Amino acid sequence: MRRKIALIGGGQIGGVLAQLIAAKELADVVMVDIVEGLPQGKMLDIAEAAHIGRYDSSVNGSNSYEALENSDICIVTAGVPRKPGMSRDDLLSINSKIISSVAENIKKYAPNSIVIVISNPLDAMVTLMQKVTQFPHNRVIGQAGVLDSSRFATFLAWELNVSAKDVHAMVLGGHGDTMVPIIRYANVNGVPAQELLERKHGEKAKDILDAIIKRTRDAGGEVVALLKTGSAFYSPAAAAVEMAEAILKNQRRVLAIAAFLNGEFGVSGYYMGVPAILGENGAESVLEFQLNEEEKQMFEVSLNSVKKNVEDMKRLGF
Ligand code: APR
Repeated sequence: MRRKIALIGGGQIGGVLAQLIAAKELADVVMVDIVEGLPQGKMLDIAEAAHIGRYDSSVNGSNSYEALENSDICIVTAGVPRKPGMSRDDLLSINSKIISSVAENIKKYAPNSIVIVISNPLDAMVTLMQKVTQFPHNRVIGQAGVLDSSRFATFLAWELNVSAKDVHAMVLGGHGDTMVPIIRYANVNGVPAQELLERKHGEKAKDILDAIIKRTRDAGGEVVALLKTGSAFYSPAAAAVEMAEAILKNQRRVLAIAAFLNGEFGVSGYYMGVPAILGENGAESVLEFQLNEEEKQMFEVSLNSVKKNVEDMKRLGF
């Protein structure tokens, strides 16, 4: 049976998602957006490249949520970006309204799907998605850690002049300035990255590592500052496709995702970026490991910022 992925939001990330999924023949794709013609136009364009790209996924666009029917996975990018003059609360309130309505429709039309949320503020939006759909927590997850980890690995690879493919580096915690890069276990195919930096740079290694961490934390903002309109879209889409592939193919990949915690890492009742096994049931389980004191402290700071986002959202009535 052919698998089906629904993309809710047909903006920048939605467009790249559709293209990547079709090119990989991962599943049939339907894109739903409220802007008339936008999802239909983008999907027609991608369909017309099928002959050249040699793919036969069916790709369709719609302005109606009915199109979500029979979806195995829903990837949600619906929302608005923060505009000049808009407060954090304004953004939270607008996107919460959008995610609530998207969630109602996912619940109605794709009740058995696994939902991957990308819309920001991620930690709050994934919490709201689960609350409204009432899907089990393993079927509602957020994309942030795969992207943050990829950025961290890329910057380490550039510094060490090695292929990014061989760098393993994980970023945990919430999606924002307080994210927690796990330096201790960063490695180049098993060779400790920290030691490689020390051998290369001696006493300067710490400063260089700090700069890499800072750049990882600010990476989203760096892209926004360059683009001037809009935020990153290639890398968030690639990250979500990696998650969707792990689920559809039941790969049991270990990826950093926003997963709901039931006591793991000392946290209960919140979504946080942690390593989890991704398989046919979504987040199959969280892989807990011992954090050191410094990491624990960073994780705590990150948890507090996630809590604040969620509490602000509740204060606004969601
Ligand atoms: N249902 C469906 N689509 C919607 C809805 C809705 N209720 N409300 C808004 N949209 C659509 C918009 O019409 C737009 O096409 O969501 C799309 C968002 O696309 P972009 O503004 O291009 O945003 P994008 O760059 O794709 O990022 C999407 O992901 O990383 C986060 O911060 C980012 O929250 C943002 C989201």
